[in-house]
Amino acid sequence: YHGQVVEECDVIIFAVKPQILKEVILDLRPLLSQNKLLLSLAVGHKLQSLQEWVGHGRFVRVIPTTASVIGEAATVMHLGEAATENDGELIADLFGAVGKVWKMDEKLSDAAAAVGGAGTAFVYIAIEAMADGGVAAGLPREIALSLAAQAVSGNCYVYLKNLVVRLYNPSLECMFCESKVEV
Ligand SMILES: NC(=O)c1ccc[n+]([C@@H]2O[C@H](COP(=O)([O-])OP(=O)(O)OC[C@H]3O[C@@H](n4cnc5c(N)ncnc54)[C@H](OP(=O)(O)O)[C@@H]3O)[C@@H](O)[C@H]2O)c1
Repeated sequence: YHGQVVEECDVIIFAVKPQILKEVILDLRPLLSQNKLLLSLAVGHKLQSLQEWVGHGRFVRVIPTTASVIGEAATVMHLGEAATENDGELIADLFGAVGKVWKMDEKLSDAAAAVGGAGTAFVYIAIEAMADGGVAAGLPREIALSLAAQAVSGNCYVYLKNLVVRLYNPSLECMFCESKVEV
């Protein structure tokens, strides 16, 4: 069944768990010629391994985030040796449907994953810490959590919008503080 799908498709997305990725690719290797654009979503497997397993470099590594489910992913992608600019644009369009996409050199992958992926955990911890403060000051926990989450969620949009403005006008005053923001 998988072989038939691969034969019929021009773009093949490997979205299996990382521990079985190599086995799945090697099984299908005879069908994975360079006229097909290959993508891996699996965490941890670098382009060098992916390219070795298939025997060519028309591979793109894509690292999406869980917020894909609400169309707000922070996706990072890295192009393999034989992936073209058009391949990159196609994949950016595909994953742009579920959030924002950044194309960058693979050597920046860990840094990007730490900020855009693992960084999520810091936001969750911050929301819960804010809510704890609210509870300590007398708010019911459910209201404190909703207030904190909404404060973060709403202000992310304000921040992103303001960030764009600030990028073009670095001397803009911070909206919420007295001092100037250095960008
Ligand atoms: N979830 C995220 O936010 C996220 C973020 C970044 C990267 N990733 C990466 O994305 C990949 C998929 O994650 P996931 O959370 O979507 O995993 P998942 O829900 O467990 O899905 C894995 C898929 O692989 C299929 N599968 C299992 N064995 C297979 C085989 N031998 N041949 C072909 N297909 C097979 C499964 O099909 P059946 O259901 O039919 O078994 C299932 O559809 C992982 O490598 C993960 O590291 C995920």
